[in-house]
Amino acid sequence: MCRSIRRRPLQFQKEYATLKKHIYGELMSRLTDLIAKAKANDPQLGADVEREFRALSSRLSFGLNFERHRPEAVELPQRPVRRGDKVRVLPPRGSPAKGDQRLWQVKAIRKAKKTVDLELLDQPKAEMPSVSLDDLVVVAEFRDTIYPGLVSTGKVSRGGDKPWHTVINGENYHALKAATWTHRGKVDAIYIDPPYNTGAKDWKYNNDYVEGEDLYRHSKWLAMMERRLLLAKELLNPADSVLIVSIDEKEYLRLGLLLEQGFPEARIQMVSSVIKPEGTNRMGEFSRTNEYLYFVLFGTARVTPTSDDMTGREQADGEQGVEWRNLRRRENTSIRTARPNQFYAVFIDPEKGSIHSVGEALAPDVDKVSVVIPDGCYAVFPVKPDDTEMLWGLTPDALRKLLKQGFARVRRPESGPSKAVIQYLASGTVKAILSGAVKISGRDPQGAIQGAFDRVAVMPKTTWNKGSHNAQTAGTLLLTALIPNRRFPFPKSLYAVEDALRFFVANKPKAIVCDFFSGSGTTAHAVMRLNKQDGGRRQCISVTNNEVAADEQKALREKGLRPGDTEWERLGICDYITKPRVQAAITGKTPDGQPIKGDYKFTDEFPMSDGFEENAEFFTLTYETPLAVNYQTAFARIAPLLWLRAGSVGRRIEKLPAAGWDVADAYGLLVELDKAADFLKAARKAEALRITYIVTDDDRRFQALARRLPDGVEAIRLYESYLTNFAFANGDDT
Ligand SMILES: C[S@@+](CC[C@H](N)C(=O)[O-])C[C@H]1O[C@@H](n2cnc3c(N)ncnc32)[C@H](O)[C@@H]1O
Repeated sequence: MCRSIRRRPLQFQKEYATLKKHIYGELMSRLTDLIAKAKANDPQLGADVEREFRALSSRLSFGLNFERHRPEAVELPQRPVRRGDKVRVLPPRGSPAKGDQRLWQVKAIRKAKKTVDLELLDQPKAEMPSVSLDDLVVVAEFRDTIYPGLVSTGKVSRGGDKPWHTVINGENYHALKAATWTHRGKVDAIYIDPPYNTGAKDWKYNNDYVEGEDLYRHSKWLAMMERRLLLAKELLNPADSVLIVSIDEKEYLRLGLLLEQGFPEARIQMVSSVIKPEGTNRMGEFSRTNEYLYFVLFGTARVTPTSDDMTGREQADGEQGVEWRNLRRRENTSIRTARPNQFYAVFIDPEKGSIHSVGEALAPDVDKVSVVIPDGCYAVFPVKPDDTEMLWGLTPDALRKLLKQGFARVRRPESGPSKAVIQYLASGTVKAILSGAVKISGRDPQGAIQGAFDRVAVMPKTTWNKGSHNAQTAGTLLLTALIPNRRFPFPKSLYAVEDALRFFVANKPKAIVCDFFSGSGTTAHAVMRLNKQDGGRRQCISVTNNEVAADEQKALREKGLRPGDTEWERLGICDYITKPRVQAAITGKTPDGQPIKGDYKFTDEFPMSDGFEENAEFFTLTYETPLAVNYQTAFARIAPLLWLRAGSVGRRIEKLPAAGWDVADAYGLLVELDKAADFLKAARKAEALRITYIVTDDDRRFQALARRLPDGVEAIRLYESYLTNFAFANGDDT
């Protein structure tokens, strides 16, 4: 929409949009009519016009149209102010006001007075008198070139030589940019649970909560998501990977279109997932029990069948995958008179707890009480609780045959004719058993097959309804057990995330999983559980910012605090929730050092206090400037990026090596090329070496050295001014 229109009153904007859509639609259908007429009169002319029309219309955007809201910007309260920075002037401490949203540029810093001279960005004539350094916050627009770095803020290690999970406190757009250097095409699965855009201040755009009445609420959300999804795509392995996105009814339609447009090469499915069986009631609406999961599959990615069809239908122990069906037909059309030979008695011997025999079919006019019942038995007929006479699903002969093979049985035989349930195995299952695809471990006392079948692989259904996915019990309450008294809104069920990932990484014990809206860290926790189940070495990269909740923000501001203050940052999601949760999960102890109360349930049950034999390191994303830092500091900030690219495993080279080179477990670093001989000797001895970084501006020497590396070791050139290797300019965000 053009600028002049955007400034008009809201009502006018809405009418303009409707009119535009209307005129456009009218025009298209009118042209189609005219082409049809032209074709009737002059087929050649009609065909020519149609071809031109198709070419033109394919250039018009159908589908999802939305305002891109460029550029997106983020405040960086912990970043020191430097000359040339873009900044905002903050409202006075204690003020709940939103403050001046204009962007200023720092012209000069008067260190002695701790003040700064500013100039309005894009209007150099508009100057502001000196402002206190403390009242400024640096702003990064997404079109700006950034130099990301990472600072370690802690670690927990119980996993020996396993790769490290990482948790990054930072703006995910910038973290994803950095990850395009460390993980391009290497990620096996991304699971995200972005803000759902409920209108209830559940996320910020350009540092402002997006509220229900914001006319651009949806396009802001789409613009935010699109930018990040396009970066995420660069991380995913195009040959075989999956993107999983959870969402609810507020944005699922728009998200579906966005995914289709952004990933035309992928296969997309949506699953409906019950997370609150008791439902959320709203007057006059269906009570909502579920949310949705989009699965976007790239390359050869496939859903790995497991023994669970995800519908939550009861499966007795050891019977996973083999579905016993009830013999009585339920549909209203299956009343006794509908078929001549499917109404008969099944005789139950309550003492033996089994089916004694199967009676003959009764003609429609024969009363069921006339049937002669064998001694000690009772008869079960296909009768509804309201006494309607129905049909069995099989003829007597078919049931007798199944019974002989152990493929029919009675449940609750002790409870009499009205409660006993006759069950049988469907023909597909019988075939699978007879062909040996399903193995039988034994038979129950009535001769029905039973016990630990070899787990039958079933394709999961698109409706998930499992008690383990309850967001309250397996999300909120579980999180409370790990980090008592710390609040986090709507964590996912641990087991729901575990199940969703299992379908794609079950056969990838070294999978790299990423969640860049990681909130309380459920995804990392789920990856650790998957590892424990099969001894895997999967790793999870979690990114989340350090926002506080909207109500908390108000209270903190009123206390005179600002983002960037230690007390404020301490309460941010990443520092207060994500990192402590991951730490608690691994150690089995709450932040107070108490053993976590309760047990893990479902697939793998054990006390939560056992923790996991895993490693995790915590980082904060930094924004460097290529000018102001010295070599050693600059290197320290990129050191974690080199280690991450080499697989986040083993020792990290933290400092520029005094010897001019160093070889750690998974990677080596050569800084002084005249030390290449020593470096190569060490590199050849390092068995797990994957990457060598060679610092040189001389391409010829780099190539010559790369050729002398052991087979299979990747050589990566770093420019001598390290940070230029990590300059992420923005190609498209204008
Ligand atoms: C809905 S929550 C995810 C909850 C998570 N699945 C769990 O089980 O705990 C979304 C999270 O993304 C974070 N977030 C939102 N926008 C972000 C951004 N631009 N960069 C980094 N994190 C962001 C929010 O702070 C919030 O914690």
